[in-house]
Amino acid sequence: MTTTVPATTSTHPAVDHPTVDRPGVDRPGADRPGADLDELIRRDPGAHRVLTGDRPTGPLHLGHYFGTLQNRVRLQRLGTEMFVVVADYQVITDRDVADRLAEHTENLVLDYLAAGLDPDRATIFAHSAVPALNQLLLPFLSLVSVAELGRNPTVKDEIAHSGQSAVNGLMFTYPVHQAADILFCKANVVPVGQDQLPHLEVARTVARRFNERYPHPDGTGVFPRPDALLSAAPMLLGTDGGKMSKSRGNAVALSATADATARLIRGARTDTDRRITYDPAARPEVSSLVLLAALCQDRAPELVAEEIGDGGAAALKRTVTEAVNERFGPMRARREELAADRGYVRQVLRDGAERANAVADATLAEVRAVMGSV
Ligand code: TRP
Repeated sequence: MTTTVPATTSTHPAVDHPTVDRPGVDRPGADRPGADLDELIRRDPGAHRVLTGDRPTGPLHLGHYFGTLQNRVRLQRLGTEMFVVVADYQVITDRDVADRLAEHTENLVLDYLAAGLDPDRATIFAHSAVPALNQLLLPFLSLVSVAELGRNPTVKDEIAHSGQSAVNGLMFTYPVHQAADILFCKANVVPVGQDQLPHLEVARTVARRFNERYPHPDGTGVFPRPDALLSAAPMLLGTDGGKMSKSRGNAVALSATADATARLIRGARTDTDRRITYDPAARPEVSSLVLLAALCQDRAPELVAEEIGDGGAAALKRTVTEAVNERFGPMRARREELAADRGYVRQVLRDGAERANAVADATLAEVRAVMGSV
């Protein structure tokens, strides 16, 4: 059995999202009941604009790769326009300081480029470098109630996990900020994990309410209603059997060396049954390792397990290490080449910021016009 929770963004258990004021209307996907978004994108990539992003808090790992990065590269190849936000302001939602922000930001961009995002086709930019995007937060905040903010299940969960004694205002309002990330470029597709669905619902609500409150003279709304594109990637566990996480030391980074990969996998938790099987419910740790090898080799996990047979954990770990190092070797080599030229990475961010600023300025001008601010 494989779960369909994406590996990267499933930071929290699946959540039940509260409906805002019109039942069902703001559920991501509600506009296109039964429509297969992926199919729609394949049929008409030019009609879709994608926005995704990550917080720059540490290196991306293999869970991120199979959960979202791979999918972004696929969408890029299909020819959809793509914006990728390095959500630097969002880092301080659950911590007091943004540690080594410039370094994490540049490393994140290196991970993107190594994975195959093409800066000529995807606009990669830092959140803090686009003032007009951030200015959208003010009118947007007026469109949601404090009670709605308080009901967001992902935020509630993050508050519970943050260990902070007081909830800061950014933690409480960041889903609205994230709505601005999505809406500033009028994205209509947001590839996300389950945990981000409540946030997408906020973005849809904000778009709808803004369009209702400030109708465009030509009868159309300023903002489209974005849809979630849920990842179908099965869940990878960390080497300790827990949730794979940037901060727990239980994840193989995209940028890890072959030796570091071998070390981490050698220390991975397994069980004492020598016969290797793929059975995620009964043997989560062993099955996650089998799955990792299978994803790297584009094969079925059952087949990988059968091949190892009675070889035990040692053979399993050897197989996984080889599979990871083989699959990611070229990406890591490319990453190293790119990393040698920090000037290039900064240029990618400057170019991305320039494009994002032009788009954000145009959207803000429209917003101010319909609000009568001019
Ligand atoms: N919240 C996302 C995360 O923690 C990052 C993010 C910021 C994002 N803005 C976004 C994701 C807009 C999708 C859309 O991974």
